[in-house]
Amino acid sequence: MAASIDALTSSTLKCLREGWWNDDFTEFLTETLRPRPGNRILDVGCGEGTAEVRIARLHVSQIRLIGVDLMIERVMVARHQTAAHNQRVGFTTADACHLPFRDDVFDSTFCVAVLQHIGDVDAAVGEFARVTTAGGRVLAVEPDNRARYWYSATAAGVKAFEMSARFFAALAAARGDVTDAAVGPRLPALFARHGIEPLDVRLFPVSQTRLGMPPGAVWARRRASVEHAIEQAPTEAVRALGREYLGVLTAYAAEATNAGSAFVEIQNTMLFATVGQKTG
Ligand SMILES: C[S@@+](CC[C@H](N)C(=O)[O-])C[C@H]1O[C@@H](n2cnc3c(N)ncnc32)[C@H](O)[C@@H]1O
Repeated sequence: MAASIDALTSSTLKCLREGWWNDDFTEFLTETLRPRPGNRILDVGCGEGTAEVRIARLHVSQIRLIGVDLMIERVMVARHQTAAHNQRVGFTTADACHLPFRDDVFDSTFCVAVLQHIGDVDAAVGEFARVTTAGGRVLAVEPDNRARYWYSATAAGVKAFEMSARFFAALAAARGDVTDAAVGPRLPALFARHGIEPLDVRLFPVSQTRLGMPPGAVWARRRASVEHAIEQAPTEAVRALGREYLGVLTAYAAEATNAGSAFVEIQNTMLFATVGQKTG
């Protein structure tokens, strides 16, 4: 659902793939990975197997897909989801920074929305290069979560967006989160450092427009997300900021109601797909 990119409830696109993973994206993925019969393709941070299921629907035959993820629960769901498809897939748990594979064993390696979760992105990209064969493709699709466009017809809407950014940044800092939410555009440089020649960068915009007063469920979802985040906050300073933000959200809902059919809210953010080729 497009609502999943809501900047008022999350500072990142983490786990929000439903908003942008459409057929065009799957086609881009398969064209970029160039699967040939007999190829072995590695999906790092495969999650619940979205890529494997979507690629299976394209009936690309005789490839071997291997998905790895840090979380055993996701690996188990991925196994279950792909069981119905007549496809050669395998899943295992592994850390992107320490892949349990020999050098040069994959024809292509890719990740989608994974490096934004990882502290040591350099180590992960180094592993992608190590396990990919010379001439093989490496693809990383990651957002720049800080490059968010926001328009709201009301003053409280503008303030709510600012407060959301402040609150979620303070929450991440208080938790000691060292991940880079804006990793997308840095990938060509990271690729080059590890012997992966950058070939292309493709942008996938992710947008959402609301015209007319949003229904009550939207405001309830926004409040619930922020309240949940406040509960998780480790310091009173961050919790206080969260409560201040909730007050602004209340004002925003009231202004949106008053604006009625003239209300408009626009959000946009960007995914960067960086395509590279392992030099040999
Ligand atoms: C946003 S989800 C994306 C899942 C999948 N690539 C997709 O697009 O549907 C990010 C995934 O990365 C995994 N992950 C995070 N850190 C990881 C690491 N160090 N090594 C392997 N997987 C990791 C998470 O467990 C999660 O399943």
